[in-house]
Amino acid sequence: MSGNRDILKVAMPKGRIYKQASRLFREAGLPIPSDFDDTRKLIIEVPEAGMEFIMAKPVDVPTYVEYGVADIGVVGKDVLMEENKDVYELLDLGIAKCRMSVIGLPDWKPVINPRVATKYPNVASQYFREQGQQVEVIKLNGSIELAPLIGLADRIVDMVETGQTLRENGLVEMESIFGITSRLIANRVSYRMKNEAIQSLCDRLQASISARV
Ligand code: PRP
Repeated sequence: MSGNRDILKVAMPKGRIYKQASRLFREAGLPIPSDFDDTRKLIIEVPEAGMEFIMAKPVDVPTYVEYGVADIGVVGKDVLMEENKDVYELLDLGIAKCRMSVIGLPDWKPVINPRVATKYPNVASQYFREQGQQVEVIKLNGSIELAPLIGLADRIVDMVETGQTLRENGLVEMESIFGITSRLIANRVSYRMKNEAIQSLCDRLQASISARV
């Protein structure tokens, strides 16, 4: 680890969560200047606030936090469940709400050892194991909905937010596995060493979250 011990390093997810996360941080009075939103810069320092933001691919946020190169991070519960890293989950930010579901074609019929395509192989394997069903899990990296349409898989396990992708592709949600929101996570050592700064950030975020409901 390197850098100033007093700076709080925050891993922010690029992509669909970023907009909502940055809005919540701003509501909490945390320093995310508006020019962050369009930048391609990956490390954004705000020395006057004692903070540094690391713009990360969402799936990598728990890794940066587990290794302590980020003290805290914002990440979806879907990624947390899949990655299963050794980090503290501090706060439910209540943003980027969606759900993890089992999805298929409406005329789907049970078969022996069905194939299940997903970006979340650990989540899918655990779910079907708990259901006592033997399945073959196929890992894909995106456009998961293609799999049942072109005969790669019998079902998929994927995130559903508005349901638009399912509707437009003639797929149905067969079961919802768990609800997803974004969480604030912390490195275990940072949580002890930078407790005051992390706790104060949590308190401000919590106040903003409560003010929203
Ligand atoms: C996610 C997810 C679904 C879709 C759900 O894909 O994998 O495909 O969004 O959202 P909806 O219910 O609002 O339609 P994403 O856009 O992240 O792209 P991907 O296909 O590359 O995973």
